[in-house]
Amino acid sequence: MPHPYVLLSAAVSLDGCLDDTGPERLLLSGPEDFDRVDEVRAASDAILIGAGTLRADAPRLVVRSPARRAERAAAGRPEFPLKVLVTGSGDLDPAAAFWGTGGRKAVYTTDRGAPRAQAALRGRKDADVVPVGPELDWRAVLEHLYAVHRVRRLMVEGGGSVHTQLLRSGLADELQLAVAPLVVGDPAAPRLFGPGAYPPGRLRLEETRPVGDVVLARYRPVAPGAGPLASAADRYWLELACELARECPPSGTAFSVGAVVVAEDGTELARGHSREGGDPVVHAEEAALAKIDPSDARLSAATVYSSLEPCARRASRPAPCARLILAAGVRRVVTAWREPDTFVPGADGSGVLAAGGVDVVLLPEFQDLATAPNGHLLGGSP
Ligand SMILES: NC(=O)c1ccc[n+]([C@@H]2O[C@H](COP(=O)([O-])OP(=O)(O)OC[C@H]3O[C@@H](n4cnc5c(N)ncnc54)[C@H](OP(=O)(O)O)[C@@H]3O)[C@@H](O)[C@H]2O)c1
Repeated sequence: MPHPYVLLSAAVSLDGCLDDTGPERLLLSGPEDFDRVDEVRAASDAILIGAGTLRADAPRLVVRSPARRAERAAAGRPEFPLKVLVTGSGDLDPAAAFWGTGGRKAVYTTDRGAPRAQAALRGRKDADVVPVGPELDWRAVLEHLYAVHRVRRLMVEGGGSVHTQLLRSGLADELQLAVAPLVVGDPAAPRLFGPGAYPPGRLRLEETRPVGDVVLARYRPVAPGAGPLASAADRYWLELACELARECPPSGTAFSVGAVVVAEDGTELARGHSREGGDPVVHAEEAALAKIDPSDARLSAATVYSSLEPCARRASRPAPCARLILAAGVRRVVTAWREPDTFVPGADGSGVLAAGGVDVVLLPEFQDLATAPNGHLLGGSP
């Protein structure tokens, strides 16, 4: 099931704190950065916080700029992004400014928390309470936001417990940190990220920029997911594979496909695309794997991203790509598009891989991107 793009946004002190322990909220950002955050809000379909932030800061969580709200309305969007709250307890203060401002609100909670949340919000026609089971399942929350509220871009404004869970579970697409030039120094102050196991490796730095006296740093988590569940980083790499497919020399007799091989820690091992380097029959996965030393120990925990599922049969080479992947020892493949019957009826590269013990993850939301350079082979225009 597709998810929205999830952007974690926070302001932190130099020692990684989100706040101090005083009764007032610690202002980490300056006016320029608050305005930047307002811009990010205006570009989002929804803004999510945890109930701890609602209790501590009582934020209104609205787009402040009338010009930005007018732009949203002119584009046919609601003036305000949907406000989303997560709570396990359902213990909500109905008098908080969060409820009386902005547009629609959605409260995601547990079966246990739902009656209490419903009681607190009784009479509020602009707030839906959604129980997602005995525990708060983040994937269920994201799927519901995508499918029911049509949220494609979700901004998460904390607090630490929510940021920690989303980063740890591989569901964060982007992290935007405003690093403020002050040190809190209190060991009891709330931290941006709590202890525990996170996806391995380094995040990819996308941008740094001074905004007043804070520094904005934007990162993308790129360590692939594990097993049959897709992570945000899987979407990052699969999108790249689909973009590589556009670089293929045109052909009327073979698909244009892109592929990337990524190590467990998010290091790109190799990339390839169909017919690259003047070889008229080379496939994308084959081209990428050929660039990696077969004895590279990282292959066994690597993920292959391919815009089209790896081929199961081919006339042009002795081994199809599904077999090359098995022989390389790769145990995870993420793809956007099952091979149609255009050239090889009944091709089932995913089946070959699965029979060989590989987790094959299909992300159909990328199919349009994967088929775009192949329209002329599928009955469309070249
Ligand atoms: N500097 C910044 O950019 C920034 C931004 C936001 C917040 N903050 C600061 O962060 C602090 C609050 O952070 P926090 O970590 O204490 O709170 P939080 O992450 O905002 O909220 C935690 C609460 O959310 C609910 N929740 C989260 N995950 C859940 C799950 N898996 N299942 C069920 N319920 C879940 C629970 O609500 P229930 O208790 O209702 O069950 C939990 O107590 C405050 O000091 C605030 O000022 C700073």
